[in-house]
Amino acid sequence: MCGIVGYVGPDEALPIVLEGLRRLEYRGYDSAGVAVLDGGLGVVKRAGKLGELEAALDEEGNPTGSVGMGHTRWATHGAPTDRNAHPHLDCGGHVAVIHNGIIENHQSLRVRLEKEGHSLVSETDTECVAHLVEEKLRDGGPLADAVRAAVRELEGAFSLVVCSLDEPDALVGVKVSSPLIVGLGDGETLLASDIPAVLHRTTTVVPLDEGMLVEVRAAGATFTDLDGMPLDPAPITVDWDVARAQKGGYETFMRKEIDEQPAAIRDTLVGRMVGERLVLDELRGSDDALREVTKVFVVACGTAFHSGLVAKYAIEHWTRLPVEAEIASEFRYRDPVLGPDTLTLAVSQSGETIDTLEAARHARRQGSQVIAVTNTVGSSLAREADGVLYTHAGPEIGVAATKTFATQMVSQYLVALYLAQVRGTKFPEEIAEVLTELDQLPAKVERAIALDDQVRALAERYRDARDVLFIGRHTGYPAALEGALKLKELSYVHAEGHPAGELKHGPIALIEDGVPVVAVATRCHVYPKMLSNIQEVRARGARVIAVATEGDTEVGALADHVLHVPATPELMSPVVVTVPMQLLAYHVATMRGCDVDQPRNLAKSVTVE
Ligand code: F6R
Repeated sequence: MCGIVGYVGPDEALPIVLEGLRRLEYRGYDSAGVAVLDGGLGVVKRAGKLGELEAALDEEGNPTGSVGMGHTRWATHGAPTDRNAHPHLDCGGHVAVIHNGIIENHQSLRVRLEKEGHSLVSETDTECVAHLVEEKLRDGGPLADAVRAAVRELEGAFSLVVCSLDEPDALVGVKVSSPLIVGLGDGETLLASDIPAVLHRTTTVVPLDEGMLVEVRAAGATFTDLDGMPLDPAPITVDWDVARAQKGGYETFMRKEIDEQPAAIRDTLVGRMVGERLVLDELRGSDDALREVTKVFVVACGTAFHSGLVAKYAIEHWTRLPVEAEIASEFRYRDPVLGPDTLTLAVSQSGETIDTLEAARHARRQGSQVIAVTNTVGSSLAREADGVLYTHAGPEIGVAATKTFATQMVSQYLVALYLAQVRGTKFPEEIAEVLTELDQLPAKVERAIALDDQVRALAERYRDARDVLFIGRHTGYPAALEGALKLKELSYVHAEGHPAGELKHGPIALIEDGVPVVAVATRCHVYPKMLSNIQEVRARGARVIAVATEGDTEVGALADHVLHVPATPELMSPVVVTVPMQLLAYHVATMRGCDVDQPRNLAKSVTVE
């Protein structure tokens, strides 16, 4: 979850590292820190957002030098204080370490190191790595060997970047489960936890594989495994344009990313429909294996999980295969019945969410075919899965997922249709019909975005609500869950999503005079039931905001407010109906003075369990 960036090259490292951190702050913003090799080790770190660090640098002066590294922290071990901020140093201040992930055996390491006379000053798991490296360097070998020896003693999932005064021209990075990439520039080399952090210097990157160590110097990078054997990973060229990772005139990334949804959906569809047929060569698997599948699992977290719930309806309907959509962090701790006749879709924007990654690994170990649906080329999930379908949403910087949610749904529709195509559960003309509907989604989403003014007015009216309920049926149910998640994570208003039919079994007790209820009530086979559910909450004093189909006049008689979205087949309707709910969350949060791009306690990529 933390952000890591490092630079070795001819230029001043600090401004490049700070620019990288700016692009990474979405990963964590509890504290930030930098270390620059400037003859000594110039370390400055501060609790709070990057701005606090920048203010401290202004006050204390910038360390100068052309080798440097920086970190933004999402606190796990130890409160978000100056002292717990990274980089962490060894006893002599010769070694600096930044770290993403968790060192699970840090407690026993700390006890041992302290017994041996090391003095640890923070509460973090990271600091023990600096002292371990210090110990290993006493043997006189190169820094890379010392890091290897230290890593052998560590348990957990992490990535590290280490520098030492003994080798002032290099940074050493290592990946054990948590993401790390190398950026190969012109006479300069970068290290980072995520691609956007290096895009201002290069688009040529090498994502590190599991158990890979890299020594980064201005002239390039040397890759080895944890035994020191040379490796030669292939670089990839990232086609993300730098501007797309910036705000481009918008107040916030989130608002920009909401508007980017039509383009993101188009980009995700492009090239995948050839005539009336769906071509998904990237899945890499054989069609025969897909014909053998008897059950599908979708594993994911948070918003990605909601996309998986939507996919469940589509896959079951189009392929007649049973589907279980499951929260990834629960999946591998029960005993799911997996085997070669099962297909597991692992859905993750970052492709680094450890819960999803571990669920996918578990499924693979049990013989299931795993297809990754991810936005991140070269991510761990993409590389470890049997096949991968990329959501071409471009970089998503706002912590709350918006355009990646839309494209996750679209990508899973494509997988569902592909399954239907190879298994023959839909006629080609039926598939072509659905593909045509998918093609129309960008224009429909555009019309939903045009509801912005109406939604802002509603946000003004309900911004002080204490509780908000979101209800829906069929695919409206996962859409309601997503609407509630957006509102609660951005505005800190208590919000719950419920299947509308379930209200009377308990949640309806929450309704009292004036409680806002957002009801997904588009025209579909459960529409009449939704109308009844709306009446049930209205009768108890709720203020109903209905998301309804354009042209529908019936619901207007029952609801207090209606947001009309274009008619969309119900399996695809969540792509459209979630848009006004994203906007509602955005405006309520903004009006309440919340930071929508960086909501409290959250981080973009969750690489700890
Ligand atoms: C909510 C949100 C999170 C993520 C979840 C999974 O707006 O963004 O719930 O969806 O943390 O992240 P990925 O998709 O990277 O696995």
